Amino acid sequence: MGKVGLGTVVMPQFLVSCGSTATPTNGFGNISKERLNTLKAFALEGLVASDTDDLLLAKGLNYHTIIKWGDKISDTDTFGFNNDFTCFIPFDENNPKDGLLWVNHEYVNPLFVSDFDARKYENPFEHRTKEQVDKEMYDVGGTIVRIKEENGVWKVVENDPHNRRINGKTPISVNWDSPIKGKSTIIGTNSNCSGGITPWKTFLTCEENYDGFFGETEYDTNNVATRRPSSYGWENFYDYPPEHYGWVVEVNPKDGTAQKHIALGRFAHECCTLYELEDKRVVAYTADDKNDEHLYKFISSEPGSLKEGTLFVADTINGIWLALDWETQAVLKSNFKDQTEVLIRAREAAKLLGGTALNRPEDIEIDPITGNIFISLTNNKQKGDVHGSILKIEENNGAFDALHFKASTYLAGGEEKGFSCPDNLAFDLSGNLWLTSDMSGNSMNKKDKPYMVFKNNSLFVIPRLGEDAGKVIRVASAPKDAELTGPWFSPDGKTLFLSVQHPGEQTTDLKNPTSTWPFDEDGIPKPAVVAITGDLIEKMNKLNQFEII
Ligand code: FEO
Ligand code: CA
Ligand code: CA
Repeated sequence: MGKVGLGTVVMPQFLVSCGSTATPTNGFGNISKERLNTLKAFALEGLVASDTDDLLLAKGLNYHTIIKWGDKISDTDTFGFNNDFTCFIPFDENNPKDGLLWVNHEYVNPLFVSDFDARKYENPFEHRTKEQVDKEMYDVGGTIVRIKEENGVWKVVENDPHNRRINGKTPISVNWDSPIKGKSTIIGTNSNCSGGITPWKTFLTCEENYDGFFGETEYDTNNVATRRPSSYGWENFYDYPPEHYGWVVEVNPKDGTAQKHIALGRFAHECCTLYELEDKRVVAYTADDKNDEHLYKFISSEPGSLKEGTLFVADTINGIWLALDWETQAVLKSNFKDQTEVLIRAREAAKLLGGTALNRPEDIEIDPITGNIFISLTNNKQKGDVHGSILKIEENNGAFDALHFKASTYLAGGEEKGFSCPDNLAFDLSGNLWLTSDMSGNSMNKKDKPYMVFKNNSLFVIPRLGEDAGKVIRVASAPKDAELTGPWFSPDGKTLFLSVQHPGEQTTDLKNPTSTWPFDEDGIPKPAVVAITGDLIEKMNKLNQFEII
């Protein structure tokens, strides 16, 4: 179910095929009076919007910090910067309190990480050093760390043999029959935004805005390539090809070995959400978080494979999945030399086929009750969509390997609904939908921007049942400039793991940061992963849909 332990790939039998806004009376059948009264007793007291520099929580919730930037995970490694996606796998399904936490480190703020302040220089790249870039490369990628819960508190097991960093310099193999730009092993991963989990209990970490680190290869109308430089300028010290980044990466929690899945295409992958079919083939949904880019799904042709199969792009107007298949699509054959090039230049291939331009598609989750697929469309300011929406996909006959579907807007952001710019999504054990907002740091709390009323980024829940069903309720408010990311429920539904990413991002002077969360003695803001616990989490997870009679 959703992001619940390993449940992303273990779907209950769908009760009914209806929208997840369903209330007790419009699609879920009859509920006993006693049950309905219980649900009413759990009415939520949400937070009002706040610009306070703190992680504020609704009544019934509390938090403690598990790990933050710079913390030691072993004698040789430390926790990276700007944590995003989190995913927890227990060692033993019967003990949800001891296991491995994976955390993405999406990007770095050089001011904090490498003491490089581009604003000081007219030509910043002339002042970059290799040592600075090395520090930055270390702090991206991901972390595996063993955590244990004792007396309600999650703690890192320092120096556990599983603890390790995957970073911008880790060798990663290529899961494809031919090399990518001459290499079968790629150096490093970066831009690790959201991710997913496989049915075989490995982590998926997705390379999103990769062009910021090694640039991009761009083609003119005559198919002549030029290299666009990156904003971080890493390519000036390490000349790795842009084509080595922008992939879905799988990490084995046991030994840290990793592979890049070429078959899933190359673009700004926000996340990768898998569903395992009865015959053990997998379907992977993944989207390209950029204005006017696309939603994709991969259907494997062999059990448990993220290599053998077909990548499709969504035509949401006509409800068709279009195959990015060089062999069968004449337009691809005439524009690209082979399937490898189609996958490397997936954005161009998708447009040639007629994929629908979407408004920054980000996180994707599968509704555990209905099997519908929900996709955050964060915004598309150039098209006048400032608040974004959540797209719903209903596959034909509920079959995840269907080639036809129906698309509709589940929920649009805006003042009336109380949220803007949806990003991460997570269903809890009861099928309530949790979502985070991602208003950018330079547009929050600004009088001249349309986001003023929403104040700081937040975490919301949309209850599935009870008197609050369908309402968007704010349950956490982030510190200044921060974004709440990577919501993931522990398998027992008692903990919500959550990243607090980029607090104090607008800081220009480390002596006077815009945030001081998590309130360390040094006053420096630090990205961190927290555990949110309390009655509210437990009650929400106990509102079990499957008790409905
Ligand atoms: Fe890294 Fe699309 O958020
Ligand atoms: Ca995101
Ligand atoms: Ca984001």
